[in-house]
Amino acid sequence: MVLDSDSKIWLESRFKNSVRFDESMSKHTSLRVGGAADAFVMPEKPEELVDLIRWCRQKDIPFLVIGDGTNLLVKDSGIRGIVIVLTKCLMTITGRDMERNGIIVTAPAGARMQALCSFAVKNGLKGMNFAVGIPGTVGGGIMMNAGTAHGSIKGVLDSIKILLPDGHTKIIMRENLDFEYRKLSLKDEVKEGNQGQPIILGACFCLRPSDPWKLQKDAEKILKERKERQPAGLHSAGCFFKNPLSGKTAGDLIDLAGLKGKSIGGAEISLKHANFIINRNKASASDILALIELVRVTVSKKFNINLEPEVKIVGQ
Ligand code: EPU
Repeated sequence: MVLDSDSKIWLESRFKNSVRFDESMSKHTSLRVGGAADAFVMPEKPEELVDLIRWCRQKDIPFLVIGDGTNLLVKDSGIRGIVIVLTKCLMTITGRDMERNGIIVTAPAGARMQALCSFAVKNGLKGMNFAVGIPGTVGGGIMMNAGTAHGSIKGVLDSIKILLPDGHTKIIMRENLDFEYRKLSLKDEVKEGNQGQPIILGACFCLRPSDPWKLQKDAEKILKERKERQPAGLHSAGCFFKNPLSGKTAGDLIDLAGLKGKSIGGAEISLKHANFIINRNKASASDILALIELVRVTVSKKFNINLEPEVKIVGQ
């Protein structure tokens, strides 16, 4: 616990019902594992978020901003410092008129990716359907350059708005963003260590006018295909490993290594899609970490390929 009693009093008076102490991260991650965060704060207004970040920096208290916890594995001893969730502020999606090459839709970091996909379909805007079925928030999706075989965030983004470590905001156009496979690097904006990490506040997406009915049918087809291939309704973090840059996919390699259905404790490699690790029966983070290690060692021995996790592993 890095919070002294004065810090707790400040957090309680500033955030009232929106702060919890010793909050189990298993309640806030789709894998449903992880120990407690010292404090868990859900700011309800952007000003509260800015205040909280400024206070953390002044007090030198570590913080971690998360989206919906859908791509996150929190270790069993939890997180020292403050976990900040944006899903109670920064939520409203708005459309703007024709600009440059298309229609600009503004989505704040705390909005759900699925809300953005639905907004686009309803308003007859083409471009977001690649993301149909991807869980999590817009902020998380941008940081992870979320995507599927149909496309990724990079392809539809116009610009992002970030909160800099000095409290100022900055807009960065897509052409100046450094995207990689499943990753956005903001290293040019990073000043010193983790406390210098900028925070995504929202983004503008460039979409194109299209027929809402056609878009809806297309979205239904993509969702159906996804359900056929992936285990739905079970506790997972989606695909666990990044696909190698060329050759077979991670799911294919794990499958060929004979690991489908393999379990350690309550964690299991999905029988439906080998790149999904499922919390089948009250798994701990240690169970999942042991299963990941088994996958990496087995795939490395068999194919001489090092699989890298796509899911972010945090905590102690
Ligand atoms: N495959 C197997 N066995 C398996 C799973 C897959 O042999 O158990 C082989 C099949 O040949 C299949 C191929 O792998 O045709 C590709 O599988 P899939 O179409 O499911 O694609 P993927 O590369 O495994 C990627 C994304 C998914 C996304 C799907 C669909 C990554 C790491 N994963 O999966 O994203 O939903 O394409 O577009 O890029 C996620 O990011 O969490 C995620 C699930």
